[in-house]
Amino acid sequence: MAETAQPVTMDTIVSLCRRRGFVFPSSEIYGGLGSTYDYGHYGVLTKNNIRSLWFRAMVQERDDIVALDSAIILNPSVWEASGHVAGFTDPLVDCRTCKLRFRADQLELASCGRKPSKRPGETPDCDLTEPRQFNLMFETHVGALQDESSLAYLRPETAQGIFINFKNVAQLARRKPPFGIAQVGKSFRNEITPGNFLFRVREFEQMEMEFFVPPADATQWFGYWLDQRLDWHRSLGLRESNLRIREHDERERSHYSSATSDIEYLYPIGWQELEGVANRGEYDLTQHTQNSGTKLEWIDPDGNRYTPHVIEPAVSIERIFVALLCDAYHEEVVGDRERVVLRLHPKVAPVKAAILPLVPRDEGMATRARALYEELRRHHVVEHDDSGQIGRRYRRQDEIGTPWAFTFDEQTLEDETVTVRDRDSLAQKRLPISGVRAWLDDALERDWSSPSSD
Ligand code: GAP
Repeated sequence: MAETAQPVTMDTIVSLCRRRGFVFPSSEIYGGLGSTYDYGHYGVLTKNNIRSLWFRAMVQERDDIVALDSAIILNPSVWEASGHVAGFTDPLVDCRTCKLRFRADQLELASCGRKPSKRPGETPDCDLTEPRQFNLMFETHVGALQDESSLAYLRPETAQGIFINFKNVAQLARRKPPFGIAQVGKSFRNEITPGNFLFRVREFEQMEMEFFVPPADATQWFGYWLDQRLDWHRSLGLRESNLRIREHDERERSHYSSATSDIEYLYPIGWQELEGVANRGEYDLTQHTQNSGTKLEWIDPDGNRYTPHVIEPAVSIERIFVALLCDAYHEEVVGDRERVVLRLHPKVAPVKAAILPLVPRDEGMATRARALYEELRRHHVVEHDDSGQIGRRYRRQDEIGTPWAFTFDEQTLEDETVTVRDRDSLAQKRLPISGVRAWLDDALERDWSSPSSD
């Protein structure tokens, strides 16, 4: 097995996603809607796996974190109090010549509309306006009247829905600091320059957790969560050499943050933020206390009151999805054939196993294969494929990252065994049909790390 050593590009990932139905450009039959995507079958399955692995690590396997699902459209006062109405802005410049818009603070990453090899402002024809602040929140109206009084926003982060429920959860879930509230859901940002596939989109699914701690312990918890989150990304199989931590300096930090570090991934576009971990201090609870009149504080058993500080790990499924696909994508030559293989962690892979009757018209193979498929699909997402040559069927499964294939052949009819083929090593061995279910359950629980060299 020889790997072809081309570095993976974003275009390669986009084309695989489209070819195998992971992700499509949205509204395509109407010409699309810039940087908006729809997920097909394998994309949905992969996203479900990412979400449930996050939920498992952040809620299910812990005593100190509970779940929440708050509304997307909140009372607009929430966004006044949080600082988003006044300050959730990016500096924008227009080019009067090519009519394109750019983020003034990221001109070095953009291309001139007329001469793409140049940066905006670099050619004599470029005519850029002065930067002006552009608010990233999508506006909408609640109710029949469309005036100032009905103005509302689609949430740009899930975090505020958590802060405004602090009192409810602390009381009803019988939790005391340190404890956390976790939420997964769609967030919306009218990004000036979305792009790089799913990396920066206007509608994305955030997974955020707000961890409320006594003020004196905030620094220690910040370090703890940074380590935990980095370990979690490693546990998904992302290669060590593609992960790093970058601390924000004071100028870069958000208005609410007293410390932020990004967990960065080496995407095809370079090192970029995968997940942010921030120490938000008491900013949010204090703002909502002042603006709502409801005290969001903690009273300990001795009657001492304090406003907990907040440590926040925040990530989107989209950024993880792209990182996982880039990390997993390989082209290699096996014998005299090329294959594309997605070496996804089996827990992330959309399909866990394929069930393949070698000769589909052989009734003995067909019936046994169908029976195993019907048994396994009650427990795992598996596929039954009986069309085309066996080599093509294997390649189809390799391309979507299916870790194992169970093949029914002549020998099955003699001894009720099947071959199991391993996606990564291509090793094959025989198993009794009656043991396949237990074998697959065990295999999915085994540790996995990428066999690809770093
Ligand atoms: N509550 C804090 C917060 O929202 P953020 O750094 O703006 O902080 C957190 O966003 C995470 O959400 C990022 O680390 C990234 O994973 C993801 N994210 C932010 N904007 C995104 C976008 N336009 N498209 C995809 N993911 C995005």
